[in-house]
Amino acid sequence: MLKPSLEKALNDQINAELYSAYMYLSMSAWFDAAGLPGMAKWMKAQYQEEMFHVDKFFHYVLERGGKVTLRAIEAPPTEWASALDAFEKTLSHEQFVTSLINELASLCMDERDHATLNFLQWFIAEQVEEEAIAGELVSQLRMVGQSGHGMLMIDRELGVRVFTPPVQ
Ligand code: FEO
Repeated sequence: MLKPSLEKALNDQINAELYSAYMYLSMSAWFDAAGLPGMAKWMKAQYQEEMFHVDKFFHYVLERGGKVTLRAIEAPPTEWASALDAFEKTLSHEQFVTSLINELASLCMDERDHATLNFLQWFIAEQVEEEAIAGELVSQLRMVGQSGHGMLMIDRELGVRVFTPPVQ
C-alpha cells in the first residue's frame, strides 16, 4: 500500500506528465502552422511519449493499491518566438521534470519506499536521455541561426521520428 505522501506525489507527477504532453501537443500545432512539418511530427511523438509516461505512473499507482486523482491540466503556451525558442523551452521544461523526478526519489528514500524508488529508476535514466536530446537540438538550431537551408535540413531530419513504446 502506498503511503499518503507518496500517493499525493505520484498523482502530482501524473498531472505534470499530462501538462508535458499538453505542452508538446501545443508546440506540434505551432510548428505545423509555422510550415515546419518535421518538427511538428517530432513534437507529436514527444506528446505520445509523455502520454506513455502518464500511463506508467497511472498503472503504478493502481498496482500499489493507491487512488488515481486526475486534476485540471494547466493550459500550455500557444506561441513561441522561433523554433529555437520552442526547443529552448523544451530543454528547460525537461530540466524541470528531472528536478521533479529527483524530488520524488528523495521522498521515496525519506519514506523508505524501495518499490517506488525502484520504479523511478526508469524515469531517472529517461530524463538523462530527454535532456541530452533536447540539448543537442538546441545546439543544432543555434548553429544554423537564420539559415533557411539549415532549418529545412533539421526539419527533414526530425520528421522521421516515430514514437514506439519501449517493451515493458
Ligand atoms: Fe515525461 Fe519528458 O518527461
